[in-house]
Amino acid sequence: MAVQTKSLTLEEGGFAAFLVLLALVCILIAAKAVDGVMQFHAAIGAVFSVLGIYLIFRGYSNRPAGPIPQEIDGRPNYQYGPIKFGILAAVFWGVAGFLIGDYVAFELAFPALNLDLPWTNFGRLRPLHTSAVIFAFGGNVLLATSLYVVQRTNRTRVFGTVAPWFVILGYNAFIVIAGTGYLLGATHGKEYAEPEWYSDLWLTVVWVMYLLVYLGTLIKRKESHIYVANWFYLSFIVTIAMLHLGNNVSLPVSVFGSKSYIAWSGVQDAMTQWWYGHNAVGFFLTAGFLGLMYYFIPKRAGRPVYSYRLSIVHF
Ligand code: HEM
Repeated sequence: MAVQTKSLTLEEGGFAAFLVLLALVCILIAAKAVDGVMQFHAAIGAVFSVLGIYLIFRGYSNRPAGPIPQEIDGRPNYQYGPIKFGILAAVFWGVAGFLIGDYVAFELAFPALNLDLPWTNFGRLRPLHTSAVIFAFGGNVLLATSLYVVQRTNRTRVFGTVAPWFVILGYNAFIVIAGTGYLLGATHGKEYAEPEWYSDLWLTVVWVMYLLVYLGTLIKRKESHIYVANWFYLSFIVTIAMLHLGNNVSLPVSVFGSKSYIAWSGVQDAMTQWWYGHNAVGFFLTAGFLGLMYYFIPKRAGRPVYSYRLSIVHF
């Protein structure tokens, strides 16, 4: 039997090259940063990129030569690693977010708990709470469950091997950058869209990859019918991309600085902001979670949805 030689896949090589480039850009920005927040975040970006490169090569050295089997004994070889990580991250961010919620509640009753410090005042901790519970806790729930549901309902392994990891880890890297930014006072000042321009740019990269992974999995499905949960998840992914891009069009003062100004001004900005805010509730907290419920509730109840036709009308 011929011995298979092991080599990097295009996916592994592509992501590693991208992260090398990103690490170099982050180091350059950290070296020339015009403010402390940018310097700190660029340094975190460089550390995360190097960590990503290490994980790719660790995965490469641990895997057998040859392509990962799509099926084992006729059953789909589902990829659960990124999903498990996402669920653990959701629990972690959930507990952290609720504790911050407790603290801000106490600050409302006992203002002395603001401690007269910029990092701990209500104005910074409140958005930290709301974003932690919505985007960190809820977001990890949605990302993890969507990657589970899309595989199970289409009876196929997720598209890509490094890509799903990139989505989950990249999203959590965004949360760390955004959350520490809140504490350090780096904000657009737009509710639920606080993160500054470079965090937004990073989230865009992660989100486009998320869409590709989701669509790629649907395209290679083994089930002819696309179950309704997938439509809800897909609408969540596409709409959040539109809202994020529309509401965050901004011009940085310098590529080496954290401050930026939103392109829209006055009433246009206010309208765009709440077009975003309202629809973020509609598509992040509603459509995405409906996708989750259309899979897990019938599954746990052990019976099919009452009327599948109605679920399509619902969509
Ligand atoms: C231990 C649990 C929690 C505590 C103690 C808590 C506490 C708080 C407090 C004190 C505020 C600020 C209220 C104000 O500004 O007047 C707040 C706002 C908010 N929290 Fe929580 N929270 C908790 C859990 C959650 C969860 C699980 C979610 C969603 C998944 C959530 C989402 C929000 C949102 C969206 C706001 C802004 C509401 C508004 O502006 O009307 N919270 N929370």
